[in-house]
Amino acid sequence: MSQPTITFNDGAAYEDFMGVWSRLAGTVFLEWLAPRPGLRWADIGCGNGASSEMLLDLCAPAMIEGIDPSPAQLDFARKRLAGRPVRFEQGGALDLPYPDGSVDAAMMALALFFVPYPARGVAEMARVVAPGGIVAAYSWDMLGGGFPIHLIHEEAEALGLVVPRPPSIESSRREDMHALWVAAGLRDVETRAITVTRSFPSFEAYWRTSLSGPTLSGVIARAPAGAGAALRDRVRARVPDDAAGGVTVTATANAVKGVKR
Ligand SMILES: C[S@@+](CC[C@H](N)C(=O)[O-])C[C@H]1O[C@@H](n2cnc3c(N)ncnc32)[C@H](O)[C@@H]1O
Repeated sequence: MSQPTITFNDGAAYEDFMGVWSRLAGTVFLEWLAPRPGLRWADIGCGNGASSEMLLDLCAPAMIEGIDPSPAQLDFARKRLAGRPVRFEQGGALDLPYPDGSVDAAMMALALFFVPYPARGVAEMARVVAPGGIVAAYSWDMLGGGFPIHLIHEEAEALGLVVPRPPSIESSRREDMHALWVAAGLRDVETRAITVTRSFPSFEAYWRTSLSGPTLSGVIARAPAGAGAALRDRVRARVPDDAAGGVTVTATANAVKGVKR
């Protein structure tokens, strides 16, 4: 059976589902990059602007070029960051509309594993960055169980449900990231894992948020009657309440950085 593709059609829903997670991992990622202020940035796969906002708040960039294929995500991003030094454009990582060496830093925040040819995407980032500049990314550790709703996917698959995956999940492994960066001719390549936790006031809040992403509600809608309730029960059994009645979930991303020669 062919897999349904994952598309991002709702910037507001994305914010609750993934924007919050992106900021948790992204804050650690940007501290690790430690870029100087005043850089020109490209935020590739900028989505609804969560990663661009983080750059603005934490790294004092001179300007950001944000690019993403999803009009709904870009619409949310433009409203969210109106008046800030960011320009959003529709497009993809495989063919960046920027001249060679025109930015000082390029990043893909939770986007590399959506790029169908990751090597080409990394080569494009390296092309548009000026010598001495930063090329970096972080992705959920999809194959190591690091995705924030990995446990739900695991239970869905145990019930025989088909869960769509991003097209290039192997690029989320640290060794693959390292190899991609070296192959793109970057120097001083380093990788690291970033583990973060997020608390929800109740299991219901966690479940609602998880269903608001681009995959799970579709998985349940396509499933036989009763499968959605069965899935919820199985997940409930694996996610314990804390003393205050809330739940806490852990996720792990892998990150990579290198320098343009
Ligand atoms: C998980 S979101 C990450 C968004 C944002 N960077 C963040 O940190 O929240 C992944 C984004 O990658 C975008 N995307 C999918 N395919 C892409 C491609 N070929 N090139 C660039 N972005 C792509 C999606 O539209 C989506 O907005």
